[in-house]
Amino acid sequence: MRVEINKLTKRYKDADRDLTVINDLTFTFPDRGSVAIIGRSGTGKSTLMHLLGALDTPTSGTVRYGDVLVSSLSSDERAAFRAQNVGFIFQFHHLLPEFNARENVALPLIMNGVSESEAQQRATELLDKVGLSQRSTHLPSQLSGGEQQRVAIARALVARPKVILADEPTGNLDIVTASEIQQLLLNMNQEYQSTLIIVTHNHELARSLDVVVEMLPGGALISSGSQRSTAH
Ligand SMILES: Nc1ncnc2c1ncn2[C@@H]1O[C@H](COP(=O)(O)OP(=O)(O)OP(=O)(O)O)[C@@H](O)[C@H]1O
Ligand SMILES: [Mg+2]
Repeated sequence: MRVEINKLTKRYKDADRDLTVINDLTFTFPDRGSVAIIGRSGTGKSTLMHLLGALDTPTSGTVRYGDVLVSSLSSDERAAFRAQNVGFIFQFHHLLPEFNARENVALPLIMNGVSESEAQQRATELLDKVGLSQRSTHLPSQLSGGEQQRVAIARALVARPKVILADEPTGNLDIVTASEIQQLLLNMNQEYQSTLIIVTHNHELARSLDVVVEMLPGGALISSGSQRSTAH
């Protein structure tokens, strides 16, 4: 799925300051493959991910998925759009603590109206793919950090979203586990022919992806890789 941002701006107004985090950005993400978003802390990477994932709305400008103008959907429409098109993986997995691994993975399918039995079956398949078939009935608290993040990946991918947004998905894991999980994510993105957009502070990982977008202070970006367009 081709994701395009056009003249995208996000401004936060606090009592004492007016902060422009994303400033008039125009960029087209490739319609499959992998994109790294890098940049110093506070340059707006997570803000951009929230806008791309329709979790938040821009101050001005647009986010488009193919022909769909996501940034002008109502909040209910955005929720439905997200459930069908976007998979999220965050630094801290955000699994539901009272549900076991399989139930967590099945949840996006249930939200999309898939029957309980089919959802459980597909969740089992995904847990198998991420190497956790033996852990499907464990609660998140009974899993290691790396295992929890694998469950989060299975949950993000189970509904076969066209776009996967990962915000520092391995930020709190040891180097070896982090690199295994990054590889898993890249392999699954390739298998599913989706677009993976990943925020990372790991420059080695960033260089191995198709496109690198660097967020700059003041809300600008520069990009390199297979698509050499540069926004403002
Ligand atoms: N809801 C909000 N209200 C006000 N300011 C916000 C809000 N969310 C983020 N900001 C500010 O916007 C700026 C960008 O934040 P953001 O979380 O996007 O940075 P980031 O690049 O993801 O940083 P990090 O690498 O530390 O995760 C920061 O200065 C932050 O304080
Ligand atoms: Mg962030």
